[in-house]
Amino acid sequence: MNRKTKLSLFIATAMSLSAIAGQKVDKKRDNIEADVEALLLKLTLKEKVSLVHASGKFHINAIERVGIPEMWLSDGPHGVRHQIERHTWDSAGWTDDYSTYLPHLTSVAASWDPNIAKLHGNVLGSEARHREKDFILGPGVNLARLPLYGRNFEYMGEDPILAAKLAVPQIKAIQKHDVAATIKHYALNTQELNRTGVNAKPDERTLREVYLPAFEAAVKEADVLGMMGAYNEYYGTNANQSKHLVMDILKGEWGFKGVLLTDWNVDINTYDAAINGLDLEMGTDVTSYNDYFLADPLYNMIKSGKVPEAALDDKVKRILRVQHTIGMMDKNRKLGERNTKQHQLDARKIAADGVVLLKNEKVDGQAVLPLDKSKIKNILVLGPNSDKKHGTGGGSSEVKSLYEITPLQGLKNKLGKDVNIKVMRARSNVLAPIASDYVASRHWTGTPAWNISYYDDKARSQLNNESWIVDSKYQANDSKTTSYVTMKANIKPLKTGEHILKIAAKGDFKLKINGKLVIEHISKNGEVFDKSVNLNDKENYAFEINYDGSQSFTLGWDAPGSLFSEEAQYLAAAKKADVVIYFGGLSHGDDRESIDRPDMKLPNSQDEIITKLLQANPNTVVFMVAGSAVEMPWAEQANSIVWGWYGGMEAGNAFADILMGDINPSGKMPITLPETLEDTAPIALDDYNAEESLYKEGVFIGYRWFEKQDIKPTFSFGHGLSYSTFNYSDIKLSTKNLRGDQTVTVTAKVTNTSKVAGAEIVQLYLNDKKSSVDRPLKELKGFDKVFLQPGESKTVSIKLTKRDLSFWDIKTNNWLAESGEFQVMLGAAVDDIRLVESFNYFQ
Ligand code: BGC
Repeated sequence: MNRKTKLSLFIATAMSLSAIAGQKVDKKRDNIEADVEALLLKLTLKEKVSLVHASGKFHINAIERVGIPEMWLSDGPHGVRHQIERHTWDSAGWTDDYSTYLPHLTSVAASWDPNIAKLHGNVLGSEARHREKDFILGPGVNLARLPLYGRNFEYMGEDPILAAKLAVPQIKAIQKHDVAATIKHYALNTQELNRTGVNAKPDERTLREVYLPAFEAAVKEADVLGMMGAYNEYYGTNANQSKHLVMDILKGEWGFKGVLLTDWNVDINTYDAAINGLDLEMGTDVTSYNDYFLADPLYNMIKSGKVPEAALDDKVKRILRVQHTIGMMDKNRKLGERNTKQHQLDARKIAADGVVLLKNEKVDGQAVLPLDKSKIKNILVLGPNSDKKHGTGGGSSEVKSLYEITPLQGLKNKLGKDVNIKVMRARSNVLAPIASDYVASRHWTGTPAWNISYYDDKARSQLNNESWIVDSKYQANDSKTTSYVTMKANIKPLKTGEHILKIAAKGDFKLKINGKLVIEHISKNGEVFDKSVNLNDKENYAFEINYDGSQSFTLGWDAPGSLFSEEAQYLAAAKKADVVIYFGGLSHGDDRESIDRPDMKLPNSQDEIITKLLQANPNTVVFMVAGSAVEMPWAEQANSIVWGWYGGMEAGNAFADILMGDINPSGKMPITLPETLEDTAPIALDDYNAEESLYKEGVFIGYRWFEKQDIKPTFSFGHGLSYSTFNYSDIKLSTKNLRGDQTVTVTAKVTNTSKVAGAEIVQLYLNDKKSSVDRPLKELKGFDKVFLQPGESKTVSIKLTKRDLSFWDIKTNNWLAESGEFQVMLGAAVDDIRLVESFNYFQ
């Protein structure tokens, strides 16, 4: 029986049950609380327990007797993940589980546009329904506190208010499709280093003002139905079972009515999880589902009276409530749509609106961008992201995209045959991994990849974890523990002849080719070591690397008929081209779940290559594709820099729209781009390690820290240019004296002073002139985006409430707005304030 037939049987059962109760199934959602209570009474203790833990990798069992269908969850947050086997992490091998690959949430954040967030949620919700999912695991709103954090690319930047204001419309749009959104990861998941063990210990004010507002808004303003707890600990206990986070705040103060579920395989215990409000346990690494903490152990504790049955009933009611709310028992439940042309157009719009123009200087009296098709005949395209696809990487947010347009393909689509596009691959002298062109083994998605196994012991008898990695390089996450890693791939030479293998390893490195030991190399320093082998292009070679160490290695080679151009060649081509476009940045080899980046530098000598290209041709566009900040030591020399994020399946077309001026860029940075890693708070304050995060910078996250310390980043939070220019004038406040709960509306006139239509995002930063606590010089409180024709003016309007004026007062354990003067700053970026006014607040 397939899922659809099963589902209609369940609906039929549910119909007959509700017929007994005198209700029609298609009206069931009118009376949810009563239906939930009635259904609860019909369940045995065993059945109730079976609803609060997984019975597969991504589902909870059905209780057919009473018409409860199987409940299905899926990742999120950039598209509906491919179907995973019921009981293993393998792909289920479906051929019809492709979905729309949406731009990442960092891109949504860069749009600063609630309508873009809504569009994103609409596609995600509709596609999740079409794949018969009940919970979609997203959006993610953990903040980009640390540029090295491997998962920044999945979230909405560094500011709590920006994330909150975008998460709300996104969640509402998802849930309109009869799917539960699942905001994650609650709370304080801000590093991957020892993500399941690190103990987060922020002070209460920092927690409330910085790390909770997006979750709070999701509960209070969007009625989010699902919330996923974080892997990390909070004051010594796992976040999922923290009384303070869950019972006091989430379910107490905020009145969350939905389901709190764990991340996959978290470190909890039955009693604390049961008592402190965890509703659903997912992904625990045990052989039988009955061994889950909230399975037999919970049943036994209830039987012996250690845990009251009422605690379980509350969890079950929440699950049933969500099931009823999203229409799981309703024959009129929405069906959703998938892979439609409209969804693809939406993906393209979202990607374009997230592109940030960081710099656009004039060369010979003309701004480098947009490119003028009538003048440009020869474009040289270089850089590791020019033809790279990103959908299938990064960890749980991977998407099996129906297709993916790379930046190069997007340019070709746009320019056709009129413009000559020359593509070259640049490489510096620094060792690079073996290019994926030679890797014959495939990840199930079709991406060339190495299989990587992590063992607990040198003899490799205890397998700990297995995964895929795109490049022949490895970086240990924690330099204190020895890793025992084995990587395997089939390698296919492109030409017969001498291949000079090059290895830089810190640790014990062995390479076998077809089972024969070719290299055994022990080194502390990682100096490059060569070994020549003759390989034949008619054969595939089984490469096996065994690495024992706590650092890193890279295996590269010089192969005959190199794919890469020599420096002199690509620089000569750069000099000749009308314009050079370098698509650089990161990939999911760097921005990925479970590991933080080792540093903030661009990988594979990109800085060196970019610097040389900039010297060769001033008409060079550096187009970054990345989900986290990188150092850009060449930024001063560059005339044109664009930041494009992982832009989903239509990224290439959207980027070409921007480069050619068919769409005027309007995105603004949702993160600060620091000059160096040492400028960031967690590193400057020595607060990044595997044991505990003290959040020493307090409420001074991201730009708030840079402003306080007076450090100039390469590009500031909120920065983003346009092909238009805008003038700000006429700031007005609806009142200059605000009392109690009154609100104040700030308006200003924005005029497009250029000859091109474009959009501007006006940002409102607030400063409490005199406060009893240390407050940021500028705190983002609101923003408004206006689209203006040439010469047109419009009024932007941003409302401030008492909460916007408040800080979290640890004495009263409440929000407090102190009487006094507040300064309102309207600007185009945190470092580009255009208008200033002030008002007085009286308690
Ligand atoms: C991730 C979650 C994800 C889950 C299920 C975990 O490793 O942290 O974000 O939803 O896996 O794939």
